[in-house]
Amino acid sequence: MQTNKSEVTKNIILIGYMGSGKTSVSAALKKATGLTFLDTDEEIARRAGKAVSAIFAEDGEAAFRAMETDLLKELIETGWTGILSTGGGMPVREENRPLLQELGTVVYLQTGAETICDRLIGDTTRPLLAGLPNYEAKLAKIEGMLKIREPFYIETAHISVQTDGLLPENIAKKILEALK
Ligand code: S3P
Repeated sequence: MQTNKSEVTKNIILIGYMGSGKTSVSAALKKATGLTFLDTDEEIARRAGKAVSAIFAEDGEAAFRAMETDLLKELIETGWTGILSTGGGMPVREENRPLLQELGTVVYLQTGAETICDRLIGDTTRPLLAGLPNYEAKLAKIEGMLKIREPFYIETAHISVQTDGLLPENIAKKILEALK
């Protein structure tokens, strides 16, 4: 589906748990709309000159969370426009929730714990899911975190989209339909 750039009047802010498809859906949205795309994890890593896992290990999670909030504030101040893919913890911090809503239309990619676990089982880049011995342990951790986080995702989102079993292109289509 090709969408005229002028049809999309507001920035699109994707939120959701790790592995919910924010990056791949952003790529599909970018292709469909021609809007620019920014990934907060990538931007923070680029500026810090090291991977997110290294920031967690060397500077601590609190430092990473401060970098996330600073980046959101900067994007608002500089009038940034486009599609924003955010780290899965972004809406958990209270201060970030109105900032995300101010930046644009917030879309929650709602994805089941098993789908997430299937996707992330071999992943080594997410510090919060590191060191879990097997699938069951990872699934239990994801389920526990989702239970705590889901209310924040729902509270922050203007639109929630079910993504299980859908390709990124189809999720992007659903989002663009909802934005019309
Ligand atoms: C995190 C999600 C990660 C990254 C960091 C913390 C989280 O981003 O920001 O590892 O707290 O859920 P993705 O959601 O892009 O994996």
